[in-house]
Amino acid sequence: MFDRVWTGAHLCTMDGPPEDPLGIVEDGAIAAKDGRIAWIGRRRDLPGRAAQATECHGAWILPGLVDCHTHLVFAGDRAAEFEQRLAGASYEAIARAGGGILSTVRATRAAGEDALLREAEPRLVGLMAEGVTTVEIKSGYGLSLEAELAQLRVARRLAAEHPVEVATTLLAAHAVPPEFAGRRAEYARHVAEEILPAAAASGLADAVDAFCERIAFTPEETEMVFEAARAAGLPVKLHADQLSDGGGAALAARHGALSADHLEYANPEGLAAMARAGSVAVLLPGAFHFLREERRPDIGAMRAAGLRMAVATDLNPGSSPALSLLLMLNLACTLFRLTVAEALLGVTRHAAAALGLSDRGRLAPGLRCDLALYRIGRPAELCYWMGGNPCTGRVLAGRG
Ligand code: NIG
Ligand code: FE
Repeated sequence: MFDRVWTGAHLCTMDGPPEDPLGIVEDGAIAAKDGRIAWIGRRRDLPGRAAQATECHGAWILPGLVDCHTHLVFAGDRAAEFEQRLAGASYEAIARAGGGILSTVRATRAAGEDALLREAEPRLVGLMAEGVTTVEIKSGYGLSLEAELAQLRVARRLAAEHPVEVATTLLAAHAVPPEFAGRRAEYARHVAEEILPAAAASGLADAVDAFCERIAFTPEETEMVFEAARAAGLPVKLHADQLSDGGGAALAARHGALSADHLEYANPEGLAAMARAGSVAVLLPGAFHFLREERRPDIGAMRAAGLRMAVATDLNPGSSPALSLLLMLNLACTLFRLTVAEALLGVTRHAAAALGLSDRGRLAPGLRCDLALYRIGRPAELCYWMGGNPCTGRVLAGRG
């Protein structure tokens, strides 16, 4: 006997063969037991009964969506910088003048943990309402041990207080804090030798990220942070080649990174190295759009290399104030020319892989029963609408 079944739904298992990557099952059924998928298939083949049955009236069910790159715990906003950029200032120029990430660092340090939680909550709830069941949350607006831990603690509290899974990432190597002004290499060493080991010991960080860019950290400093992550037993990810080709894709591959993210300027050799290393390419069309970038990531090279592509919001106050993962599906298709199947794999199966999570992102027996239900006529609608929310139900570990 199952705990629960859903019937009368069309399923996108995201587990199909190459000719049917969405793995569509029309008039399907899913059964859950102990929070896992116990059975999945055509409704007429459903074996056995369940304590609770839900008729879905033709809704489409996907694996609960995974937003695999966010900075959603922060204080304040950067709408004034947006106005400066509209008047001609560049993102890099604002950052070099002490604004940008550092202005959010000032606001985040000044806010207490309760205030950070209150500011982050509606952003998280908005993502959940669209069918997101797993969210990655980075630190990176604290830039001192205590302030980074505070951000990570707030991320853990969000997970404890809401029906959602949160994967945390330490991004202490995001920018150089004011105390280390002019001493970037020294701060990178402080991250590697002090902040990272302490964060790892606290159990608050599930992974480590760094911003490798000419306005942030050099490849050598990034490698030092990655070595420290390896020593601490934490997987790594990288903000790579967003504004210039710094060899970030190849660097991420050399370190067996779970993912390299942004990648607008990544070169084809680096992308091929990522594919060989099993790293995922996380595409962030919200940042591309919001910064009015012109250089697109080389999707052709990614396809040719067989690189798995994920799509995420990059939710942050500076480069991507994106509160909707569904809107990112639209932008990934329109701006980056992803197919509907590529975009949907990007917020499910491949997004889970970008977090190193093999127990979700697909609908298959034995995996977590995390589901998102949508009132749509065909899967392409999830990429087609700009705004609006067709999500009618959400299930986390068989509950919901
Ligand atoms: O992913 N690239 C660096 N970090 C963020 C931006 C953070 C900010 O501007 O506050 C990003 O785009
Ligand atoms: Fe980011």
